[in-house]
Amino acid sequence: MKTLYTFLVASSLWVSCHSAVFAQDIAAGETLFNSKGCIGCHGPKGQSANEASFPTLAGKEASYIADQIKAFRDYERENPMMNPMVQGISDEQAAQIGAYLAAQ
Ligand code: HEC
Repeated sequence: MKTLYTFLVASSLWVSCHSAVFAQDIAAGETLFNSKGCIGCHGPKGQSANEASFPTLAGKEASYIADQIKAFRDYERENPMMNPMVQGISDEQAAQIGAYLAAQ
């Protein structure tokens, strides 16, 4: 019984810490998305007003978004508009932007 109790306390602690970190990532990602000019093309909260030219990012998989940002940064994926936009974004920041957009 004591073991079960310890397990329950430990797992609920893990869950609450984990979701707090996740909320922090989303907030950091929102700041980055808004301050780095992404809104200008991809729209507020990543909801594009011109889907034909600029893809909507809202609701896409967080890891997909992060991988695309890193690929544009490293010129593994090439686009003259995107490549310069994401220079200097770290892997951690790419993950934060992904977390934010996935939550929209
Ligand atoms: C000048 C306009 C412009 C700005 C500013 C811009 N983007 Fe983009 N973005 C594009 C275009 C155009 C594409 C589509 C590129 C292609 O077709 O390969 C794109 C594609 C993307 C994709 C891939 C979407 C997919 O479905 O594969 C991601 C992720 C992305 N942008 C993130 C960002 C982030 C983060 C920022 C801010 C740091 C940003 N973009 C700023 C024009 C822009």
